[in-house]
Amino acid sequence: MMHYDRLAASDPDVRALISAEDERQRTGLELIPSENHTSPAVLEALATTFSDKYAEGYPGRRYYSGNAVADKLETLVQDRAKALFGVPYANVQPYSGSPANFAVYVATCEPGDPIMGLDLPDGGHLTHGWKFSATAKLWTSIPYHLKPDGSFDFDEIARLAKEHRPKIIWCGGTAVPRAIPFAEFATIADEVGALLVADISHIAGLVAGGQHESPVAHAHLITTTTHKTLRGPRGAMILVTEKGLAKDADLASKIDKAIIPGLQGGPHLNTISGIGVALHEAAAPEFKEYARRVVENAQALSSSLIAHGFTLISGGTDNHLLLVDLRPTGMGRGKLMQDALERVGLYANMNTVPQDPHPLRPSGLRLGTPAATTRGMGPNEMERIAEWITKVRDHLTDIQVPEDKEERKAVMRAFSDRLSTDTFYADMKKDVEAFCAGFPVPALT
Ligand SMILES: Cc1ncc(COP(=O)(O)O)c(C=O)c1O
Repeated sequence: MMHYDRLAASDPDVRALISAEDERQRTGLELIPSENHTSPAVLEALATTFSDKYAEGYPGRRYYSGNAVADKLETLVQDRAKALFGVPYANVQPYSGSPANFAVYVATCEPGDPIMGLDLPDGGHLTHGWKFSATAKLWTSIPYHLKPDGSFDFDEIARLAKEHRPKIIWCGGTAVPRAIPFAEFATIADEVGALLVADISHIAGLVAGGQHESPVAHAHLITTTTHKTLRGPRGAMILVTEKGLAKDADLASKIDKAIIPGLQGGPHLNTISGIGVALHEAAAPEFKEYARRVVENAQALSSSLIAHGFTLISGGTDNHLLLVDLRPTGMGRGKLMQDALERVGLYANMNTVPQDPHPLRPSGLRLGTPAATTRGMGPNEMERIAEWITKVRDHLTDIQVPEDKEERKAVMRAFSDRLSTDTFYADMKKDVEAFCAGFPVPALT
């Protein structure tokens, strides 16, 4: 259990907010697939004197003095990343996933160059060329799509790649419940001379734990956040594969230069230490079992939801996440479900479904099992969670989300009032709290 005694003496306001967040996490359940609970060791590594140190540059090549220890740390963490993923090069300095992806563009593209990524409404990330992201303003984005059944449309991908000759093809995404077929992407990228960049932010822990194929043999570059299934602190890494170095012997050095001086200043050494701890934990045999259970739980949750009459994009999941298609009960219901579930302490997030006409009022709900699995939950608990989600859905059937903006505002206001007054939600919140008490958050025990 974290006590924060010195913080409490020095800044009771911040201390109170940290305690409130601990309480929210302890009494509720994170079902957002991009979130997880780090180990107490990872959290301890984050709050150290490494936070005070500047270390612009790379091990042995720093712009500041006093970095002999930082050099050892960064080299250790690079070595762990290389060993865990089986690659010859790792940059562990990106501040987070979006800057890591940005660095890939800076390293490999000229302004305006064509690039291809999965369209955001279909599950791609903002940084893969979504029209409102700077990546689509600085480079020419040609999005590709999923088929209505949730699989990749490789006919479209091959056609667009031949027509536009992109510099980069991104594969991976934020809301893709099925395995990424890296070899099929590689065939297309190799044919048109594009760099294949696998963004494994969501599935890095499953790759490390042997539950998802590794992109190493197929991609030239791999980017990943460290805080999702990999269960580390917020941060990111860029990995260069042997295939990447064979295509461009300078690729690793281009990535280094894109990070600094291209985009960033001093690396966050405390985060790098936390990433090191997470990589060490992910290399342990228990992590393989964790990854296996994450997928088992996602499949159990999928089956229970389907049994309760829900429709899932692609009909199920191969990984840690599922995407519920709420359109059978009406359009734009993602926010209704998200807010109602939040009210009872179940944290999921509204999400677009493939070809969703309204990305800002989406018709899907994204759920994931990494955090619940970290707390020790299994298939029986997934059944319980599915029952609560079903009850919430059934309790909302009398509300529809109008097309008209003013009418919609009024409906959402009334819904928000109802969330605070309807005892249905208060009663369910108590049940969720009692349930969560049996599955402690590792750092809060
Ligand atoms: C596939 C993918 N790439 C990149 C990112 C960006 O990571 P960050 O939020 O750390 O910038 C995310 C975050 O959700 C992601 O899902």
